Amino acid sequence: MPHKIALYPGDGIGPEVIAEAKKVLETLSLDISFTTFEWNTTLYAKTGRCAPEDFIDQLKPYDAILLGALGNKANAPEHLAVDPLLSIRKAFDQYVNVRPSINYPGIEIPLKERKPLAIDMVVIRENTEGEYTNLGGRHYAGMPQEAAMQISYFTRHGIERIARYAFETARKRPRKELVSITKSNALKYSMVFWDEVVAGIAKNYPDVKLTSQYVDAAAMNMVRFPEMFDVVVSSNLFGDILTDISAVVTGGIGFAGSGNLNPSRAFPSMFEPVHGSAPDIAGKGIANPIAAIMSSAMMCDFLGEKQAAKKIENAVVAHLTEGTVRTPDRGGSNSTVDVGNDIVKRLK
Ligand code: NAD
Ligand code: IPM
Ligand code: MN
Repeated sequence: MPHKIALYPGDGIGPEVIAEAKKVLETLSLDISFTTFEWNTTLYAKTGRCAPEDFIDQLKPYDAILLGALGNKANAPEHLAVDPLLSIRKAFDQYVNVRPSINYPGIEIPLKERKPLAIDMVVIRENTEGEYTNLGGRHYAGMPQEAAMQISYFTRHGIERIARYAFETARKRPRKELVSITKSNALKYSMVFWDEVVAGIAKNYPDVKLTSQYVDAAAMNMVRFPEMFDVVVSSNLFGDILTDISAVVTGGIGFAGSGNLNPSRAFPSMFEPVHGSAPDIAGKGIANPIAAIMSSAMMCDFLGEKQAAKKIENAVVAHLTEGTVRTPDRGGSNSTVDVGNDIVKRLK
């Protein structure tokens, strides 16, 4: 049976980087089929929706979704543009968002004295609840007493399962260290609960060293001592913010791939770069496609194509190490397509 992949390029640089990821996947001898869904803010301009009403049903039969990026404020309100992404994460119960950050050889990083591979962390971000629930409301629109409520919602089930996934991840890594991100000094309901539930799960993992950091301190530590982190587990919003930092300290957001996983495999999982649609460089053909290509490697790994995943990763590392073909975010003057071609060349 071929792997049925739904390609969802989206907006801005999304289609540019997904084209390169597809090219890389097609170079490998995989039994794989692609269906492309042209859902984006251009569709909104035509139909008033960024994706058709039944988009979840349309995606359900696929083995995985490879998404580019959503959003273009010139065409559609931002919260409507990204709504399909957040809906997919919830509807397909993709409760784990895996976001690795490694300073591969050949990538310039802000902490110039760090040796290649000195930074190797993975953030396990809770992806279906917490600060990202659809609970809340707006009241007294336009009046002086206008109010907005955005409710965070944490469940024992939700915290337990993300903590378990993070401990399992840590257990498989040499350092076996886990940092839980909290803010229980200020958020006395949600984050005190988070700490308690994580501590409860920790009892089953005596081999993993668990520590806790406040999110503000963790943000600082990720900038000054990123090598301190092995596995990190966080709530939805904290993980969102911290993974832009972990990306930039390991070379930039153009390198950061991610997976939105449903470990039960009851529904498709989704793979996507951490970055957005980058309207400032969209259409210029200069976006770094490596984040999308690394996301496709994560997809192969999740689909059981371990060899293909390793091949892509090795080709990317070889490409980075040689460092002759570079997009402008890496100080080069090559195009998105040049980078894709250079990686493809190494796979052949
Ligand atoms: P962004 O990640 O799109 O861009 C931030 C900066 O990083 C920009 O300067 C951009 O040029 C640069 N950048 C991003 N990806 C790059 C790449 N592959 N190569 C080179 N440079 C790259 O974040 P933003 O500007 O805050 O958001 C732009 C739009 O994307 C908004 O509509 C936002 O809602 C959306 N967004 C979508 C996703 C997603 O679909 N997963 C994620 C984040 C933001
Ligand atoms: C990400 C993005 C999304 C998020 C946006 C586009 C809704 O920033 O995947 O990091 O906040 O999760
Ligand atoms: Mn983000």
